[in-house]
Amino acid sequence: MENPFKFGTIVEAEYFTDRVKEVAYIREFLKSANHLVLISPRRFGKSSVVAKAVKESGRKSITLNLQAVTSIQDLSAKLLREFFKLHPIERVRHLIAHFRVIPTISTNPVTGAMDVSFQAGTSEADVLEDVMMLLDKAHSDKNRLVVIFDEFQEIRDIAPRLDRQLRAIMQQQNHINYILLGSQESMMTDIFEDKKSPFYHFGELMRLGKLPRDDFYQYLEQRLRDVFQDCSDSIANRILDYTDCHPYYSQQLAATIWQTGVLQPGVEDVFQASIDHIVTSHALDYERIWMGFKRTNRWILQRLATGKPLQSGEHRTSTIYSALKRLQKEGYVIYSDRYELEDPFYRQWILEQLK
Ligand SMILES: Nc1ncnc2c1ncn2[C@@H]1O[C@H](COP(=O)(O)OP(=O)(O)OP(=O)(O)O)[C@@H](O)[C@H]1O
Ligand SMILES: [Mg+2]
Repeated sequence: MENPFKFGTIVEAEYFTDRVKEVAYIREFLKSANHLVLISPRRFGKSSVVAKAVKESGRKSITLNLQAVTSIQDLSAKLLREFFKLHPIERVRHLIAHFRVIPTISTNPVTGAMDVSFQAGTSEADVLEDVMMLLDKAHSDKNRLVVIFDEFQEIRDIAPRLDRQLRAIMQQQNHINYILLGSQESMMTDIFEDKKSPFYHFGELMRLGKLPRDDFYQYLEQRLRDVFQDCSDSIANRILDYTDCHPYYSQQLAATIWQTGVLQPGVEDVFQASIDHIVTSHALDYERIWMGFKRTNRWILQRLATGKPLQSGEHRTSTIYSALKRLQKEGYVIYSDRYELEDPFYRQWILEQLK
């Protein structure tokens, strides 16, 4: 039997649940000439929801994760390589003939994959503009291309002023819908909500929340039933209580419970045993991260883990606030309707240290 839960990568088909409204919204949105900015904390399901909506829209698309981009040349080369997957070179040769810098294109004889590069020392600005304008020229009003930049907040680290350059080029394009995804909440709002930023009000801002409980419950319960005939109902509920419906951690916990149920059918409390297993397997990392925190941060994380209020008079409000912002930026704390620890298993580890 194959584990019916999946975590860590983009989920689709039978591993994907709910997000019906969001998918429909993005699909509709792509019919307009506008751009979309999608923000959520890490692992809430941004990449998955966008992949599904774009697939359903039937539109041609290019997805690039900016975390994997090392320079402007690399960005240009990767965009061009993705473009060639949509448009065979023979059909766009005439458009490339206008490039100020001609790319080197080779095919790996074993895998058949195409490699694109630009000679070092060439003008990065020209290269990027030529490639970006090619994407635009090869499409039309009726057949706009969808370009998805994942982890868009990385734009500021790839090269100085790249954001300005990119925005200037985008302004000349008419046949592309951009979908920009990002997970570092405050940095993403800096990029799109700060008047001084070149991407100020670039597109519609959409936020993704956790998964709705009813739907996620059904998803978990149905899949747990095979292994836990008489208690799938209570396990599904305990999972969602524990993870507060976090998409990734719920799937991770469900996958571990399922596996434990299959491999150790006699285990007494399969739920607790699975949590212990996950916490133990991450303990070294958890400790290393903990040692790197300043005392105020440790205090905040402990208060959040135990659910005690932060305003206790022990620290100044301004100190707490700026530490919280930093912890949020680094991804350890998330804010949905309140501040909470991002990782429920780290919360568990912290609680165990307090014993
Ligand atoms: N609609 C969904 N149905 C079921 N599980 C989901 C769904 N969306 C996300 N998940 C779970 O969350 C995990 C992360 O999803 P995804 O990679 O799409 O999120 P992300 O927000 O793009 O993450 P990152 O911040 O790492 O880029 C998936 O592997 C899956 O376990
Ligand atoms: Mg993602």
